[in-house]
Amino acid sequence: MNNSTSQFDADLAALAFLVDAGLDIAIGSEPTDHLKPPAEPDPVTTESADPAPLRQSARAQAPKATAAPARQAVRAEPDAVVSERQAAVTAQQLAAQCADLAALRQALDGFRGLAIRETATQLVFADGNPDADVMLIGEAPGRDEDRIGRPFVGESGKLLDRMLAAIGLDRQSVYITNTVLWRPPGNRKPTPAEVTAMLPFLVRHIELVAPKALLLTGGSALSALFDFDARITRERGRWRDYPAKGGPIPALPMFHPAYLLRQPALKRQAWADLLSFRTRLDELGVAPRQA
Ligand code: URA
Repeated sequence: MNNSTSQFDADLAALAFLVDAGLDIAIGSEPTDHLKPPAEPDPVTTESADPAPLRQSARAQAPKATAAPARQAVRAEPDAVVSERQAAVTAQQLAAQCADLAALRQALDGFRGLAIRETATQLVFADGNPDADVMLIGEAPGRDEDRIGRPFVGESGKLLDRMLAAIGLDRQSVYITNTVLWRPPGNRKPTPAEVTAMLPFLVRHIELVAPKALLLTGGSALSALFDFDARITRERGRWRDYPAKGGPIPALPMFHPAYLLRQPALKRQAWADLLSFRTRLDELGVAPRQA
């Protein structure tokens, strides 16, 4: 075997490994280290577009770029940071103008602030009943949701439907959306920057639906609405008040159904959380659907 054949075999094995790990799309011809801290953005170009949530992020505290070698000088990170910040500002402006769900969907259709939009098949906006008293917020669309255009239609969606049915709920009595509305490539977790950019839309979404109770499945929804550092393993089952414009909305974080599929032993805790949610709905006068 000559050198180029063995290099080819090694490249092929690396690719097979990545496909097994969930990679299903190539977004560039050159590798990029996305974990590398970006250089500090140029303060002159970003000052006016500095939304509060990103001001505290680790990115904003990245060390200042010093004399960089020529190859680094052309790296796009400063622009990328500017555009992430700009995305959050644009999202805020767009979301504030949406008077109803149709307008919100249209605004999202026109929002080009996130790269995941370009790799996703379509926007996955919501499912269920917009007049429902219960609003459920997941993480982000997966492969099936991206293909079909509705949230929670894959394996975790089937488990979710069974979980809801167990407490007298279904897609007629619940409105379902996600924290991030485009599928991140390879079903990876949305990044904090993506969650931050989508947050104004999510906040407006909640305002427009005005539910009596929120069910937050997984850490992304919890982080987005309350605290970026909150851990679902610690916070699940603990009721919080989401400070909506129209008054606080009780919100319960619980494990994501996809996590429960991987960790079935945790279903016991999820069941306790579902019962707690049912009890609160009863107190709020939200009746279970009749079978
Ligand atoms: N996981 C989510 O969080 N949302 C979906 O829509 C599907 C899977």
